[in-house]
Parts: sequence; C-alpha cells; structure tokens
Amino acid sequence: MASTMYKAWLQNHHVEQPELREALARWSGSIVASVHTEVLDTAVKELALGIKQLYGEKPTVSKVPQSETFIYVGVADQLDKSFGYLDKSEIPRVGQEGYILKHVVREQHSILAVLGETDRGALYGVFHLLRLMNMGVQLEHLHIVERPRNQLRMINQWDNADGTIERGYAGHSIFFNENQIVEDMTRIKDYARLLASVGINAIAINNVNVNEVETAFISEEQLPAVAKLADVFRSYGIRLYISIHFASPMELGGLSSADPLLPEVREWWKMTAACIYDHIPDFGGFLVKADSEHRPGPFAYGRDHAEGANMLAEALEPFGGIVIWRCFVYNCMQDWRDRSTDRARAAYDHFKPLDGSFHDNVVLQVKNGPMDFQVREPVSPLLGAMNQTNQMIEFQITQEYTGQQRHLCYLIPQWKEVLEFDTHAKGKGSYVKHIGDGTLFGMKISGYAAVSNIGDDENWTGHTLAQANLHGYGRLVWNPDLTAEEIAEEWIRLTFGNEEQVVRTVADMLLASWHIYEQYTAPLGVGWMVAPNHHYGPDVDGYEYSRWGTYHFADREGIGVDRTDKSGTGYAGQYFSPNREMYNQLSSCPDELLLFFHHVPYTHKLQSGQTVIQHIYETRFTGAERAEWLIQQWTSLEGKIDPERYEQVLERLQEQAEHAKEWRDVINTYFYRKSGIADEKGRTIYR
Ligand code: GCU
Repeated sequence: MASTMYKAWLQNHHVEQPELREALARWSGSIVASVHTEVLDTAVKELALGIKQLYGEKPTVSKVPQSETFIYVGVADQLDKSFGYLDKSEIPRVGQEGYILKHVVREQHSILAVLGETDRGALYGVFHLLRLMNMGVQLEHLHIVERPRNQLRMINQWDNADGTIERGYAGHSIFFNENQIVEDMTRIKDYARLLASVGINAIAINNVNVNEVETAFISEEQLPAVAKLADVFRSYGIRLYISIHFASPMELGGLSSADPLLPEVREWWKMTAACIYDHIPDFGGFLVKADSEHRPGPFAYGRDHAEGANMLAEALEPFGGIVIWRCFVYNCMQDWRDRSTDRARAAYDHFKPLDGSFHDNVVLQVKNGPMDFQVREPVSPLLGAMNQTNQMIEFQITQEYTGQQRHLCYLIPQWKEVLEFDTHAKGKGSYVKHIGDGTLFGMKISGYAAVSNIGDDENWTGHTLAQANLHGYGRLVWNPDLTAEEIAEEWIRLTFGNEEQVVRTVADMLLASWHIYEQYTAPLGVGWMVAPNHHYGPDVDGYEYSRWGTYHFADREGIGVDRTDKSGTGYAGQYFSPNREMYNQLSSCPDELLLFFHHVPYTHKLQSGQTVIQHIYETRFTGAERAEWLIQQWTSLEGKIDPERYEQVLERLQEQAEHAKEWRDVINTYFYRKSGIADEKGRTIYR
C-alpha cells in the first residue's frame, strides 16, 4: 500500500460522512465509456480507482448503460447516437484539452457526463470530477465548462543519467540510474498521474546541462529505451521532450563541426529527427541551453541564436516538433571589478535584437526574472519585449535559492505576482499572463515550463509540504486567474482532508511562507547572499567577488546595485514606460526591489517610513520569529495529521527555525559591522 506521503494529493480519502456517501453513491456504481483510446482508458481507470478509494467499492465499467444512474466518460466527436441527449453544443468552447462536466437528467436516467473534445480533455475532466468528490462538492446540477488557458504546460527535469539531479533536493532521479534509463516504470507512471492530474502536458526528461551519456539519448541505440518513457507519459496525455547537446553532430555524429549553417550539420540533424520520430511518433521536440554557462552553442561559429535554433527547427518541422530555446545567456566569467557589465541586462541584450528572426516552431524560454530564481527579483524585461517571437516563461519549482525543500516556501504567490505584472508592452493591461497564453501578440506557441522538485524520496519532494508547489504550478498554469488561496486550499483538502482547522492552519502557513523566507534572507531584492555552489545558507559576500555577475556592493555607507539609466547600468531602461520610470526613480521604486535598482545609504528612508538598515534588522528578527510561528501552527494540528507526515514536516520546520536564526544573525551582524548603526530597539546583534 502506498503511504500517505507517496500518494501526495491523490489520496482519495475514504468518504465517511453518510450524507456525502449517499449523495454520491448514486453515480459511483457504474461508469459508461463507449469508446476506447489509450488516454480514455487511462481516464476510466483513474476514475474507477478514485471511486473505489473514496467509497470502498469498484464501479462496473461498461460500454452501454447498465443502470439508470452512471458516470459517462467520452469524447464529443465519437458520441454514439444513443447518447444524443448529452448536449454537444458547448464542446467548441472547450478546445483540444478542455471538458464539460454536467449532470444530465433525462426520463428516469441521471447521468454525470465527463465530455472532452479529445480524450485528453476527458482525462482532465475525470481528475476535476475526482477533485470535486474529494472536496465533498455537491454534484447535483453540476455544470462546468473548462479549458486550459495555456498551451504548453511543461515540466523540466534536471535529471542526469547517472541518477543525480542538478539542484534536486528530494533524493535521486526516478528516471535514470547508473547511466541507464530505469527499467521498472512504476514510479514514473505514478509521476505521470500526478502531473496529468494538474494538467501538465509536456515534459523534458533530462537536465539542460547535457553530459556525454544523455547526449546519446537521440541515438538509434538509446531511442528504444527513451521511447518506453514516452509510452508511459503518452498514456497520461503528456508529450516527451529531450534536452539536447548543441554539439551533438560532433559528439555523436563524428562530424568536425556543429556550425548551424554547414549543410552536413543540417543534414545530420534532419536524419536524427527522422530517426527520433521513427521511435516516438509524437515526440515534442528539443529543449536547448546553448552558449550559456559553458554549454556549446552557435557563438563558437560566429552564428547567432536564431541561426542555431532555426537549424534545429527545420529538422523538426516536418514532424510537427518544436525547439524550446532558453534565454538564460549571460557572461559567467565576469570580473567583479568591471562595473559596466550587468548580468541582469543580458537576456534582453542578446535576444531582443533577434526578434522576428526565429522560425514559427521555435519558442524562447525566458526565466521569470533577469537573474536566476532569487526569492525576489523584478520580472524579466524580455517578457513583452519581443512581439514577433514565440515566448514561454520558466519558473523553478525546485527550491534552489528558496530553502532547498528544507525550508517551507510556497511559491505560488510569487508566481502569481509575475503573471499579474503589467509589462505595458502594448499599453496598460499587457500582463505577463497574456504573454504566457499567447494572446498579447497572437503567438503561435507559448506557455510555461518549470524545473521539477521531485526525486525518489518516499514523499517525492523532500519536504512533504513542498508537494504543494508542484501541484500549484500545474493548477496555476492551467488557469492563471485562480488565486494562490484557492490553489492552496484545494491542495490541502486533497492532501490532508477537509477538516476546517487543518485547512485553515496549513493555508496560513503556506501563504505566509514566501514572505517569511524573504524576511530572514537577502533584503530588499538584492539577492545572492548564499553560500557559493550549493546555495543553501547565508554567506553575504559569497558571490561578491566572484565571476558570476551577482553583487550587492555593500560598503560602510550603503548597499545596492545602481541599475538606473542616469547613473547606473541602464537596466531599468529595458522596461516599457511607465515601469521604466517607476524603477528609475528612487521615490517610486517599490521597497521590495529597491536594492535591485538603486545603491542607497543605510539611512535612506523607504516608502514604509523605515530606514534601510532598520528594515534589515526588523525583518530579520521578524522572519526568525515567524519561522518559530510555523512550528506552533503545525503542532496545533497534532493528532489531526497522520503521524508519518506530521513528524516529517515537524522535523523540517524545526530545522528551518534554527536555520532562520543563523540567517538573522549573519545578516544583522554583517550590516551592523559595515554600517556601525545600532538597532533602534536594542535587540541582540552579535558583534
Ligand atoms: C542556475 C543553476 C544551474 C542551472 C542554471 C540553468 O544557474 O544554479 O544549476 O544549470 O540555473 O538554469 O541553466
């Protein structure tokens, strides 16, 4: 039996309340599915399993009704005449992946219909219905018409063939072991279930930093094994992508160059694409990290990113594949003495001039911020800056800079802020979420990708509460208009049940956690005060004199990076008006990003009325206290959460609270020593 940790949000807790059992019992005995496809069969199996777990008995599954009440699962264009009473008129509204959930009463029949235009739609509909059943929602008169807002809803695994995971905090890879693709696919199938249940439809299975073994995933020898992975994901409606090595023609093909303009290189990619599609007919395409952090790319041949991406696009185009080209390109060999280079500018400076030169089946993947998944960053100015290029947004679910799944940090509120940011690219109302859904510029391909946070730990994510970030990512990119509160509440009900005290308490914890983490770590948007390499724990100068372009410039007078147009690096000028002016002017720059855009004295007064130095002290003390508060909240639930998950989370929260004190003291002492200014409230700051 799978443990509660393992089942994550697919618990399907046994329904005990008689009223609820009774209300649902009428439909739970019989499922009718008149057509078969692989994905529809998955949908029916999931529904049958869910019902069995919820009510204790397995429903019958048949092609034709065997009783007067049943759940119908099907696709619109194959609706048998005998189901004519299921109204299809709403189907055009649901698109390729949406569905209708509807209670239909006809004569003596009472039917719950789950109808998609496609089988994938029906699968998502089934998971929605199960969510409702789990949350005890009344199904009588149910009528929901739903479609995902975004086209690509992708997960990026940063898994390596040797079984390690780059920035993984939950054990080893579930995909790879000792340079082989695993043979037992059970866990991968369970992962596919989790992903499909929140609407994920694409996955890149290997790290963007592609090493020797993974380079060969696109070879004739390795493709049969990769195809088995694709089979598992396909049955859950998820398309498989591979991260490729740009120099594959040399590494694998024995050519002497990987120059994207050389005919033999182009030919090699075309042959390779054909071979991939022989094995995986619905292969999604390539994910590419090129000319970034020492990865090979077109620069070596004097070519630009468009020339590199277009070559791959041409090879995939006949088969319907796409190229996802990452924009995480910057100088990672900077001299800290050089004040003119600004890493934050890099993505825009590299890619904006290429707008309009990428093929239709290329999409640029842009990290949400200009630096690298810090706890606080402005939104990347590249989002919105290209109106003739497909774009998608990259988030990081794995908590590299946000506590590594040892600290609680619920990221949905952060992502929500990104999506609600108004870029003003086409005037007021040009929200990031409309770049994600492609509507702002009418893009052909758009959507989201996020770096996964799972590994082979029993609970998938290291910290059991970190499961909420994976769930929340899927739900948010399905519908960016859901609130963080709604998403959190849904996750808690599915994961821990419907007891109100549990729901309220865990929701409070999740929703406060990002701010708490921000409060005791790097202040006011400046970022990067982490220990080098592993990025866990405080080290204020850890990146100060390094080559990574990540500085805070604290001296005895003040701190922050001047990125203004007038006296700084000009980064603020990459935004559209009025954001440009808002960030340029000290008086209007939001407090939480002040040190990202300005270098100010410690005595500078924030909009909050506090000085910078007092804000630093105040928030560190509050943050550490709030980490203790998380423990109090959790322990108030003792006895209401199963002991296994209760203990696991408690242990992590205790570590977090201890560690928050370390952050508090290191940061406070550092700034006290630099500034010589005491805390107004006279609290303990170590000298
Ligand atoms: C971060 C991370 C790397 C990763 C890189 C990327 O810099 O620390 O491990 O490879 O992002 O996104 O490519």
